[in-house]
This record gives sequence, structure tokens and C-alpha cells, in this order.
Amino acid sequence: MDEFERHGIAVVEGRDAAARALRSPELTSDPGLGSPSVLLRDGDGHARVRGVLREIIATLEPFPDAVRADVETVVDALGTSFDLVRDFARPVAGLVTAAVLGVPLDDVFLDHLEATTANLDVFGGTDRQGQASAFRLSVQLSRAPAEPGSGLAALRAAHAAGRLDDDELAINPVVLAHAAYENSLNFLASAGLSLASGVARTSARDLAAEICPARYVLRFGSEGPVAISLTDGLPFGLGRHACPGSGVALAEAEIALRALADVLSGGCRVEDVRWKTHPVFRGLASARVLVSV
Ligand code: HEM
Repeated sequence: MDEFERHGIAVVEGRDAAARALRSPELTSDPGLGSPSVLLRDGDGHARVRGVLREIIATLEPFPDAVRADVETVVDALGTSFDLVRDFARPVAGLVTAAVLGVPLDDVFLDHLEATTANLDVFGGTDRQGQASAFRLSVQLSRAPAEPGSGLAALRAAHAAGRLDDDELAINPVVLAHAAYENSLNFLASAGLSLASGVARTSARDLAAEICPARYVLRFGSEGPVAISLTDGLPFGLGRHACPGSGVALAEAEIALRALADVLSGGCRVEDVRWKTHPVFRGLASARVLVSV
């Protein structure tokens, strides 16, 4: 809250007020920067780019067996001492993000993805490192070979067909990767912590509402910027920008958390729990799990 006040950003809280704000035609996601990012615009341009991204995400619905098997293999191999972020959430979110784009993603790529602030540079505009990381990933993806049928190939085909312009093709692969990765990373790690701390298992949907990894979304109105809280039961947002990947995110979490529950079935202890301090994204920085043997 203090962080928002410092930047002169009003806050909307409570489910009804948040839902109204998210659906309001008076509040836009476009800060007036002329950004080609799907997250930072509204109107026809937004609907057009979102349509392309939605088609790509739909190729993971239902969740592909091969990706499910890869996720289960990563979790089954966790061993008796591991970090919930580095060893569990990060590789799982990385595998799913790689599947969305259809490109293998290494640790350096994931490091830059974690440094990328995507839709958040408007909060202060001073995050040069995040912008540099986003630029680097954009260049890397523009040069990556695109397998037929992959998300990256679909983005290039949309460009060739005139559905995306040059700038949209440059930025939105990174925006898609970041959207798929960051919230899933934070969600999986926090949900894993609940499981390891002995909290009774509930559905991924209920956990998402409880954990709410994206605490706020930003909009712009005639009175200035507004941060809309999602913590009162709207973890995937609502309205024009509502998360088009929520089905994938929930499927991913169900699979990964079921496999994690098996790993932890004999009991465990959690040590050194550290949280990130970001005002918008709620997530674990690290937490060590020691499995009882
Ligand atoms: C637990 C995991 C996730 C959470 C909590 C989450 C949450 C959100 C929220 C709140 C928004 C709305 C942003 C706004 O209104 O400004 C959003 C947008 C978006 N999400 Fe997710 N998301 C998750 C996972 C994913 C995944 C796995 C994908 C892709 C497969 C994805 C793709 C996107 C995209 C492309 C947008 C931009 C939509 C637009 O601006 O029209 N998300 N997400």
C-alpha cells in the first residue's frame, strides 16, 4: 500500500469494487506508452494480439501427456533435501513455459525471465535491469529456430499473415513467456510450502485464490493510475485482460502438487523460509525441505 501511495497510485480493494474496476470501460491497461505488449493496451489491438496468444495457449488444453510426464519426472527426482523454489517450482514452471513457446529454455533464460518486469516498469520506470533482460530475451527468441506446431512458429505465422506487426512479434513472445512463468513460479512454490507445512490439500483453484500470486493489476483512469487488488477471490483477474492461461496454470499445479504430495507422504521439515518483497508479485524466495526418511 505504502509503495502505491509513494507513486501516487490509488488502490481499489474488495471483490465487488475490484470486479467493477476490472470491467470498467473507464479504466484502461494502456499507460499511453504506445506499447505493443498485450498487457499494456486495450481496444482492437489488444483483442487481436490476445487472440493469437489464446490460440497458442489452447494447444496445451488438455494438458499434453508429454509435458505431464516431464513435470512428474522432475518432481519424483527431488530427493530428501531440496529447495521449493530452485528445485521444484522453477523447473516445473520452466518446463510449462518451454512447452508454451515450443522452445527449450535453459537456466540463463529463466534467470532473465525472473529479472523481467514485463508489465510493471510503469510503476517506477527505473528498472533498467529488467528492461535489459526483456530486450535480451526478445532478441534470443527472434533468433531461435521455431519447430513446426510450436508457439513460436504460431507467432511468426501470425506475423506473416499480418495479424501481428513487427513490434508485436518482437515483444509478445517475452510477455507470453513471462506471464506463463512468473505467476506459476510463485504459485507453485507457495502451494508447495502449504503442502510441506502440513496444510490439508485443496484444489489448485482454491489454492490459487488463497495464495493469489499476482496481488494487484494496474489500470489508468482520468484521475491517474489505479492498483486493483485481486486478493479477494480474483487470482486470475477478470474482464478483457483476464488470464487466458488459467486452465494451463491450474492443470500444471494439480500435476506438480500431486507428485509433490507423494514425495512428502512420509513427512518432512521446512527450514529457512524467505519471501520476496515485491509489492505486486507474492512469492517465496527460497524454502528448504528436508524429507523424513
Ligand atoms: C497461477 C498462475 C497464474 C496466475 C495467478 C496468473 C494471473 C494473471 C492475471 C491476474 C492476469 C491479468 C493481468 C491484467 O489484468 O492486467 C494475467 C494475464 C495473462 N496471463 Fe496469467 N496467470 C497465471 C499463469 C499463466 C499461464 C500459465 C499463462 C500461459 C500459459 C498465462 C498467460 C497470461 C497472458 C498471456 C496474460 C495477458 C492477458 C491480457 O493482457 O489480455 N498466465 N494472468
